[in-house]
Amino acid sequence: MMCSVRHITCLLRLSKSSVSTSVFWHGSQTRLLSTSRTCRTIMPAWVIDKYGSNDVLRFTKNASFPIINYPNEVIVKVSAAGLNPIDVSMRGGYGAATLSMKRDPLNINQSGSEFPLILGRDVSGVIMECGLDVKYFRERDEVWAAIPPWKQGSLAEFVVLSANEVSHKPKSLSHTEAAAIPYVATTAWSALVNTGGLNKDNCAKKRVLILGASGGVGTFSIQMLKAWGAHVTVTCSQNAERFVKGLGVDHVVDYTTGPVEEPLSALEKFDLILDNVGGDTERWALNLLKPWTGAKYVTLVTPFLQNTDTLGIADGMMQTAATVATKAFKTNRRVPSDEFIQFQQHKKTQLPHSFEC
Ligand SMILES: NC(=O)c1ccc[n+]([C@@H]2O[C@H](COP(=O)([O-])OP(=O)(O)OC[C@H]3O[C@@H](n4cnc5c(N)ncnc54)[C@H](OP(=O)(O)O)[C@@H]3O)[C@@H](O)[C@H]2O)c1
Repeated sequence: MMCSVRHITCLLRLSKSSVSTSVFWHGSQTRLLSTSRTCRTIMPAWVIDKYGSNDVLRFTKNASFPIINYPNEVIVKVSAAGLNPIDVSMRGGYGAATLSMKRDPLNINQSGSEFPLILGRDVSGVIMECGLDVKYFRERDEVWAAIPPWKQGSLAEFVVLSANEVSHKPKSLSHTEAAAIPYVATTAWSALVNTGGLNKDNCAKKRVLILGASGGVGTFSIQMLKAWGAHVTVTCSQNAERFVKGLGVDHVVDYTTGPVEEPLSALEKFDLILDNVGGDTERWALNLLKPWTGAKYVTLVTPFLQNTDTLGIADGMMQTAATVATKAFKTNRRVPSDEFIQFQQHKKTQLPHSFEC
């Protein structure tokens, strides 16, 4: 039954570059049926057919050509693609249970139906085809996007996205430059603004610590925070020091020379800590926050997807909630407010979580 409903939905799809061929009756509605001018059914792509290490990557010229299933979708011809740590993790099966649920909420398909899976979360390219409801874009528009992890990625010639997932690429950037930005930039924004509560109007004189600042998320965060007037301290390796200072960082602590908690605890306390490293940092980082001020610890390294992979969706969520609650309890700080433990679903499923002091 559900299959036929899905099938009907597919038949109803119309794209602007389609050619009308017949009339289709759906209840009392008459809809024009169409076939795309694009007759291609296959395209080149890098795919994986199972989870594992790099040797599961396979290049094929026969990956399925993406189709417009909903009238607000667009097909983008990929000019440049970007990889993020999540692609490496997904190749190994990270988040498989949760992402499968997102792709197939009614659990209709057999397990493994996500394969062949195409990785690649950033794309910069050109719109090739627009669904009928797409008003803001036209064919040949240059666009960029961060692709949600439950959708097929950009290591392919074409990718289908909802129109509200893409935006016009800045003309000042080449496709290659543009493909390096969307996923890290939206992650940094989600962590600092949506979860951390910072913005251009409240950052002046705020002290921010970024753990693991020399990577994609860190370097974007530094630039946003400095533009907004914050005082920024970071940890990174010694050979990245010059680079992060060039982005405006005020104070650098080299994590390769020994435990960073010692030099960090000698500094004035922080209004916000952004943790890109994880591991045991939560054990000591909470003590670096200014007490009783609403200071926040935001981490991008959450156990949520890992827990749901190993324990299943329900148990994994409970385990994550329990872990976070235990950590919050251990911080022994202000009575939880509404925001004390704040889960904020990042647009692309990563779950920054935060503790407030
Ligand atoms: N990229 C995204 O869009 C995204 C989205 C959601 C979540 N995340 C998560 O956020 C974290 C950071 O992502 P990213 O894209 O910025 O990763 P990345 O580009 O790989 O950067 C991570 C940086 O952390 C530094 N580092 C490693 N171990 C460290 C330690 N013990 N202390 C301090 N610095 C350390 C490394 O730089 P050095 O050269 O200084 O060693 C590396 O450049 C990852 O856990 C990732 O899974 C990323």
